[in-house]
Amino acid sequence: MRKKSISFIFASLCVWGVITYFLFLDRPIGKEQNKGNIAAKIRDIEERVKEQFAENKKLIQHLRGKLQDQNEAENAESTVVKNAEEAQNAERDKLEAAEEDLKIQVDEAQHVAPEKSLTNEEPVIAVLVFSCNRVTVKRCLDQLIRLRPSAEQFPIIVSQDCEHEPTTNVIQSYGEQLTHIRQPDQSDIDIPPKEKKFKGYFKIARHYGWALNQVFLEFGFETAIIVEDDLDVAPDFFEYFLGTYPLLVKDNSLWCISAWNDNGKSELVDDSGHHLLYRTDFFPGLGWMLTKDIWMELGPKWPKSYWDDWIRKPEQRKDRACIRPELSRTRTFGKIGVSNGLFYEKHLKFIKLNDVFVPFTKMNLTYLLKDNYDMAFVNEVYQSRVVNYSELKSDTLPKSSPVRIPYHTRQAYKNTAKMLGLMDDFRSGVPRTSYRGVVTFFYRGRRVHLAPNANWAGYDITWS
Ligand SMILES: *[C@@H]1O[C@H](CO)[C@@H](O)[C@H](O)[C@H]1NC(C)=O
Ligand SMILES: *[C@@H]1O[C@H](CO)[C@@H](O)[C@H](O)[C@H]1NC(C)=O
Repeated sequence: MRKKSISFIFASLCVWGVITYFLFLDRPIGKEQNKGNIAAKIRDIEERVKEQFAENKKLIQHLRGKLQDQNEAENAESTVVKNAEEAQNAERDKLEAAEEDLKIQVDEAQHVAPEKSLTNEEPVIAVLVFSCNRVTVKRCLDQLIRLRPSAEQFPIIVSQDCEHEPTTNVIQSYGEQLTHIRQPDQSDIDIPPKEKKFKGYFKIARHYGWALNQVFLEFGFETAIIVEDDLDVAPDFFEYFLGTYPLLVKDNSLWCISAWNDNGKSELVDDSGHHLLYRTDFFPGLGWMLTKDIWMELGPKWPKSYWDDWIRKPEQRKDRACIRPELSRTRTFGKIGVSNGLFYEKHLKFIKLNDVFVPFTKMNLTYLLKDNYDMAFVNEVYQSRVVNYSELKSDTLPKSSPVRIPYHTRQAYKNTAKMLGLMDDFRSGVPRTSYRGVVTFFYRGRRVHLAPNANWAGYDITWS
């Protein structure tokens, strides 16, 4: 009896001891186990992410291989690969989100501030290079590839028309550094008899329309820079477009960023004005950036020929402006073909290419937004001293402040422009580089505005 009750008490004590032990130790152990569980879950998720990546990579490789074997059209390949890549991206996003959730739980458990997540805020901008039958596209492509800060951020798409085999071979030699697409419609274009000699312009317009649809609708890019196969680019070509990109997105009164200054000859630019940018009502082209939104507007009514003059018409421009630099970020190295060789010899080859890298992405460019720019611009122009051509030429004026040469008629504009070496033509009534009718340039060490009256009422479309 006594033995029994002693045993019973002893047993009870043991049970109590064990319970107390766990009561004291339970929580810390639980916490550690919880952390351990979460860490294990993360490892598990990470494994799954890796596996998923590997699997999808295999799938894509498989699809690529299969498509090549079947020698299917490039379009089909890009669509299927793109779909697979999209599926992979979606899967990865899901897994990354789950992983992120768990990470936050662990961080909270450990009272550690969550690590700043690596979000990709940098825009991806496609570089669309137009090519036809010039093997010298190599010169342009070499520069683009050498200067681009990242292949992911600036994917190069070379669109080729004309089926010129030597050019095809040059483009193919770049392998995976770029995407090569070919304009499939090589049929003869129905051209009015009078315009037969302008056939080249019809082919260019067809090619542009097709390739821009590819870039924005098939590839799905949001922004593109358009380059032709005869352009040299400046060291800060990509930096220029990246820095001005936020302006294009934010300011609806802008519809393009151009790398080109139509009056960018050495004698007409400020050599130390590498950082200077302007708004212009004249669409410059020659290395320019547009958004998908603009393409969705222009694409459906894209013309059969002379697209650049078409785009400059009021119906298309709708009072919008482009940004252009003081010093061009592109220069043509010569064109044999559609464009008139004389224009190159007399004008284009004198355009000065910028050679100093300007860190545009680190600069405050908000002064170029319409609301900030217009007031300051109008003030500068119309508060400047009025001079005539003889005074300007005589070089006796103070250099520090800008001056203005007024013009009131089409002919007066043309005369002065000719004397100064400026481009003297108009497109839809707009002189090259003009903003609000004012052509701004640099002459013998001073800033000059060739300007209409302050009460200017808009461009006269009959001026040509
Ligand atoms: C950028 O410049 C504008 C004036 O154009 C000024 O109002 C603004 O505060 C500046 N922004 C920064 C971040 O410095
Ligand atoms: C230019 O302006 C100066 C000073 O006002 C004047 O003396 C001269 O006659 C003008 N020249 C022409 C060609 O109008």
